[in-house]
Amino acid sequence: MCGIFGYVGTKKNAAQTVLEGLKLLEYRGYDSWGVAVKEKGGNKEQKTKFVVEKRTGKIADAKLNSKFLILNSSLALGHTRWATHGGVTDKNAHPHIDCTRKISIIHNGIIENYQELKKLLEKKHHKFLSDTDSEIIPHLIEEELKKFGFATSVRNAFNMLRGMNAIVAAYSISSEMVIAKTGSPLVIGENKKEFFVSSDATSILPHTKKMLFIKDNEMAIIGKNLQLINLGDGKKQKINFETINWKSQNLKKGKFPHFMIKEISEQPNIIRNIATTYQDQVSSLTKTIKTAKGTFFIGAGTASFAGLIGTYFFSKIANKHVNMAYASEFNYLLDFIKNKSLIIALSQSGETIDVVEPLTIAKKKKAKIATLTNTQGSTIYRMSDEKILLGAGIEQAVASTKAYIAKLSILLMLSYQLVNSSKTASEQLIESANEIEKIIKNKKKLKPVVELLAKNKHIYIIGRGVSYPTALEAALKIREVSYIHAEGLAGGELKHGTIALISKGTPCIVFAPLDETHDAILSNAIEIRSRGGIIIGVSNKNHPAFDYFIEVKNTSDATALSQIVPLQLIAYELALKKGYDPDKPRNLAKSVTVK
Ligand code: AGP
Ligand code: GLU
Repeated sequence: MCGIFGYVGTKKNAAQTVLEGLKLLEYRGYDSWGVAVKEKGGNKEQKTKFVVEKRTGKIADAKLNSKFLILNSSLALGHTRWATHGGVTDKNAHPHIDCTRKISIIHNGIIENYQELKKLLEKKHHKFLSDTDSEIIPHLIEEELKKFGFATSVRNAFNMLRGMNAIVAAYSISSEMVIAKTGSPLVIGENKKEFFVSSDATSILPHTKKMLFIKDNEMAIIGKNLQLINLGDGKKQKINFETINWKSQNLKKGKFPHFMIKEISEQPNIIRNIATTYQDQVSSLTKTIKTAKGTFFIGAGTASFAGLIGTYFFSKIANKHVNMAYASEFNYLLDFIKNKSLIIALSQSGETIDVVEPLTIAKKKKAKIATLTNTQGSTIYRMSDEKILLGAGIEQAVASTKAYIAKLSILLMLSYQLVNSSKTASEQLIESANEIEKIIKNKKKLKPVVELLAKNKHIYIIGRGVSYPTALEAALKIREVSYIHAEGLAGGELKHGTIALISKGTPCIVFAPLDETHDAILSNAIEIRSRGGIIIGVSNKNHPAFDYFIEVKNTSDATALSQIVPLQLIAYELALKKGYDPDKPRNLAKSVTVK
């Protein structure tokens, strides 16, 4: 959830390097941030203590202490926080230090037994400056240092923590960094004796493509060299660097004011790429699905809605029943998972803890794991027996758009390949890509709808069949970036309760594609209108029941892709109209690595 970035090497401006890295990570969690740096010059006292700068708010908005930035330093560590324990305050921001100020740490995760460990440390007269769980770590290391060297002390201290955690710890005396993890992601980049550590490989890309993904229960020591060690037995491990082939220009907004609109605009080409080059990539998973005894899609948020659309695609196109479960609920549905079961995890980041957790259990039950993920080398990618990369390019905006569209494209390809008709999927996808391009080009036409919705506190969105998950996704997009309450519902469900909330002027978005749901969803629209609701119809064809009409050409099953795009654009425009940053919505993080 948080962003971790550390540097040790030959540069003289470690603080600046770390700050630049943190800016690229800020999308992961951004309620506060901080950097600790080991000063090289100065007197003996200054040389052996960490200088720490920490603030609430966004890094971009901070007026930095220029003295801090020019400190002659070759080691620094920084953090963007997504608070779990202790409020969003300067003192709770990371890094945290020990009583001697010689040990500095940054932490991602939740220490489940921190209260008992804190009590023990307080008895030994350790002083705490924050309300976080994380702050016990430097003090635990401080205690261990009385008996052991730094690396062993970190290992001992880390092994006392319960929960899924990742840390970077630095010791000013040895100029070494030790990193360890049992949960959240950590990756090390190497470039000619310089080491970068981060929770996300993308932030290291401007420096190097040579990466080492740290596995759970491993620790690494970085300084002059790199050592990889098993946290349990302390034995050295073999180091296997990987070369990452991502392009670092994906990290920039280019001509766009925000990542969200940039990523929406990239969708037509992502679809075209999948339509024309993914036939072979999906064929192995198609075979696995055919032989599996029970297939399940799991995912969180937007990824779960993509999974739900997948169940409709599989049913309608391939006559195949697949279950979808919210990954966070799948833990409680695992009893009947067997070695012939297939779990298909959908995840942009490949790091979502709610997905990782049930996969770990399913793996123990010897079930087969497959993934559709955007992130090569991610935890879910590495856990999976079969993987298909989304190929959407790095997604930076917190609100997922292009990764969702990529998942739908691949799910459509899979469904059609199950009945040996991948050509049909490709054709539909290309048509849908062309339609999406038109919708984006004509986005000004959406203005009256944006004006209407911006004035309202509640919006209802309905769809049937494949448009039901679309309604859920549209509502989530509006909620997360504009903070307007939007609720997605299955059209038929409205009259079972929620229609009680419709009164004069309540806006209701109705997905009415020309498919088997068309007539029934129009009846629902008319029911809402009779109660004073304002209808915004999203369809191929206008209808007298619509007060506003958003035209989306029918492209067979791939209409499921095209019809979400006007809603992505509306959500974006609503955020701008309300003065919010669509790329970094409040309280949210791109990669959800805590439970
Ligand atoms: C999408 O707009 C959300 N920010 C969120 O629901 C996201 O899709 C969810 O957290 C899952 O993330 P993942 O795809 O990286 O696993
Ligand atoms: N639990 C820690 C805190 O609240 C770490 C949170 C994070 O992962 O950002 O400070």
